[in-house]
Amino acid sequence: MPTTLLQSNLPGLDLIHRGKVRDVYALPENRLLIVASDRLSAFDVVLPDPIPGKGEMLTQISNFWFAKTAHLVPNHLLDVPLADVLPAGTDLKLYEKRAVVTRRLKPVPVEAIARGYLIGSGWKDYQATGSLCGIKLPAGLKQAQQLPEPIFTPSTKAAVGDHDENVSFDAVVAAVGPALAEQVREATLSIYQWAAAYAAERGIIIADTKFEFGTDENGKLYVMDEMLTPDSSRFWPADSYQVGISPPSYDKQFVRDYLETLDWNKKAPGPHVPADVTGATAAKYAEALQRLANITVD
Ligand SMILES: Nc1ncnc2c1ncn2[C@@H]1O[C@H](COP(=O)(O)OP(=O)(O)OP(=O)(O)O)[C@@H](O)[C@H]1O
Ligand SMILES: [Mg+2]
Repeated sequence: MPTTLLQSNLPGLDLIHRGKVRDVYALPENRLLIVASDRLSAFDVVLPDPIPGKGEMLTQISNFWFAKTAHLVPNHLLDVPLADVLPAGTDLKLYEKRAVVTRRLKPVPVEAIARGYLIGSGWKDYQATGSLCGIKLPAGLKQAQQLPEPIFTPSTKAAVGDHDENVSFDAVVAAVGPALAEQVREATLSIYQWAAAYAAERGIIIADTKFEFGTDENGKLYVMDEMLTPDSSRFWPADSYQVGISPPSYDKQFVRDYLETLDWNKKAPGPHVPADVTGATAAKYAEALQRLANITVD
């Protein structure tokens, strides 16, 4: 049975960040304990109801991809048993599938997005300008069409409540310097290309995905945070993919569709979501975990 956790509680550990999904604790020796909760955010608002087991599934999916792509790009995970770092008396069962011990890195201040298909803000920008993040694209592309080749489309991390904004590669160079910018682009595209090919063999299109990177005290680059989850990626079932329409994806669409039926201004506090909607969403996460990582949620 999956566990449910809306908010972690680890007395004695130093909570340094409670994000929309993850609770981040500082550990000695420049390490972090990152706990993925079952919180769900929609339209950038955290909803009051958990998606049971979501944090466990997210963590398992990320861990799977981190392991699979470690030969391409080093990642933040450290091989430290959780029992060694959790406070005495913690319910290990509640945390073992949703928490990881990582290197504590200095975040590279850019959302590293790879796109293989034209959808979402990419499609919007292309319609308006014919380009995406300063990259000129062929004329006449349709919504959800595959791009001639995957492209790096960075965006800035918005302040709380704002939406991220696509920026040019030159803006990344200006922010972090040419060498790091180039490394981030290379790493983003190499992981995306590898993962997209892997998923394609399992009937899933990875339309786009977002990575976060960080550097250690020597300036070495690592991929961090989460990797290729339904929260950070658009996964499309290949068998129903069609150019010209926005495909259904393995993400929060159930919840978004439900929320659109309400008279809610999309500002906090978010409304309650009925159990059949949270249950259907949990099943979608489980399906992604099964199809991609071949891990069954029991
Ligand atoms: N290895 C790491 N070193 C430093 N920071 C990390 C590392 N891995 C993840 N993070 C940061 O931990 C946080 C994870 O929390 P979460 O994903 O819930 O946040 P978020 O809601 O997406 O973003 P935020 O609340 O920061 O706007 C992110 O701010 C992420 O950048
Ligand atoms: Mg995040």
